[in-house]
Amino acid sequence: MKRLVLATPAKVNLFLDVLGRRPDGYHDLRSLVVPVSVYDRLTFETCASGIALCAPSQVRLAGLPWPLPLGRSRDNLVARAARLLQSTTGHRGGVRIRLDKRIPIAGGLGGGSADAAAALLGLNRLWDTRLSRDTLMALGARLGSDIPALIHGGAVRMEGRGECVTALPRRVGTPLWMVLVYPGFGVATGDIYARYTLNAGRRPARGRCDAMAAALAAGDVRGVARRLFNALQATVFAKYPLLEILKKELEKAGALGVVLSGSGSTVLALVRDGAQGRAVAARLRTALGLPLWVRVARATGATRRLPVAK
Ligand code: C5P
Repeated sequence: MKRLVLATPAKVNLFLDVLGRRPDGYHDLRSLVVPVSVYDRLTFETCASGIALCAPSQVRLAGLPWPLPLGRSRDNLVARAARLLQSTTGHRGGVRIRLDKRIPIAGGLGGGSADAAAALLGLNRLWDTRLSRDTLMALGARLGSDIPALIHGGAVRMEGRGECVTALPRRVGTPLWMVLVYPGFGVATGDIYARYTLNAGRRPARGRCDAMAAALAAGDVRGVARRLFNALQATVFAKYPLLEILKKELEKAGALGVVLSGSGSTVLALVRDGAQGRAVAARLRTALGLPLWVRVARATGATRRLPVAK
């Protein structure tokens, strides 16, 4: 029996432009994504046969008095990723996987995608199925649009439906600090894309995406803050006005820049450093007095291996 423990990071979209609807019903995107220091943990244990996922039916997050439902284990992306890897490779062995959730559910932080990415990476190693990272990314794309980016790891540019991923240089030694605020409810991504109607007069924001990539490469945090962009934000705010209130309060509290991550519901506020992050978080809690999950986080790298407990 072999064991492996992985910590898999959430992601935020610092930039997300929607270019248009595709014939397959999805949308073409142009997005800049960075992993952030909020992690789910997956523990894998090989066994003779079968795929068993042990995941809680609900998740409790600090600051929220109500639990968040996780859905059936069988439908979880982790179990689906494991079955897909097994059917693709014909691997005969099985696995037991325990999933410990810390990333908010349906919060635009790619939690389910991060878990699926870790499942593909972890099982490819444990089962010794030796698929290349590109092949794993292609398998991941079949399960969800954000999964290839999270298998790749690090800061990336995402294009197409999400399956075209390229590494984004980020200046080493310049930490990117942020405050993440999850309002205690999730957002259904499909519903937001369905509500999103392309503004015919809007110019494509390509130059703005490149300018953001350059600010990241230069470690220019204020430049990054000025260029935060999300084409879905207005659609999401129209449905959930509380999220726009959160954005305004974070701005009042002194954040360098604030934007919705993905299709929400998490709002991210860039800050100078961890100390400012804690001050902004405290001011937000006092100003609103609402139950919220608020975390000070920083941009981080890829899924990493943790020591296995004996
Ligand atoms: O790929 P994923 O399952 O994460 O996407 C959830 C939903 O978001 C899709 O069913 C689709 O409606 C929408 N979507 C889209 N274009 C993308 C990504 C997602 O329309 N590039």
